[in-house]
Amino acid sequence: MNGRFITFEGIDGAGKSTHVEWYVERLRSRGVDVVQTREPGGSALAESLRELLLHRTMAMQTELLLMFAARADHLERLIRPALSAGQWVVCDRFTDSTYAYQGGGRGASLERIAWLEAWVHGGFQPDRSYLFDLAPPLAAQRRTSARAPDRFESEDIAFFERVRQGYLARVRADPERFVTLEGERAIPEIRVILEEDIAELCNS
Ligand code: ADP
Ligand code: TYD
Repeated sequence: MNGRFITFEGIDGAGKSTHVEWYVERLRSRGVDVVQTREPGGSALAESLRELLLHRTMAMQTELLLMFAARADHLERLIRPALSAGQWVVCDRFTDSTYAYQGGGRGASLERIAWLEAWVHGGFQPDRSYLFDLAPPLAAQRRTSARAPDRFESEDIAFFERVRQGYLARVRADPERFVTLEGERAIPEIRVILEEDIAELCNS
């Protein structure tokens, strides 16, 4: 695979969406051929599963399996073909979200998640992951979207505290892959760090 696979992670309201499109434009301005996508979703089947995942009540096991079902389709139809064609793929959330939300948040076994991960994507991992880290009460204040909160956004502060800890454990397990961005910092300050990292990725 020739392209780079880059993921954006963090609890809801930490700042991912504020930066992801800007990031993609910065890559394009350097001549990089980029595909922007998201999880759950990114392919037609996975987008259908997203609707169920965000809005239908379900058992934790169902939620976990549907996340990986969506991911398998997304990988097969979009991510792997794009990388093979030399494109870079920037994905809003990937398997670290499953460790953080289904593992940390819902209490699913991390061993079971690792088994599903190994089955669905084996050693395939992002080349770079950005973690937007923010205290859950501040993230909740920032989530003032006009639309009704989905099943995850409706969870309480304690849930998001577990999700946050789930993410921080992922960073400890694979520090080379992650760049952690402090969500309390001003948007331009965060962009300086992202821009520096883009330069490093483009030159390595
Ligand atoms: P996410 O995509 O991670 O859920 P968003 O990017 O939608 O989060 O950000 C949630 C809200 O917080 C938005 O209203 C956004 O304008 C605001 N926001 C994002 N980053 C910052 C920041 N660094 N400082 C202040 N407000 C921010
Ligand atoms: P997101 O697209 O960030 O939501 P929004 O469009 O509201 O910004 O993600 C949708 C939700 O899915 C988010 O709350 C986290 C959750 N999620 C998981 O629980 N596990 C996963 O593996 C993934 C990819 C997402």
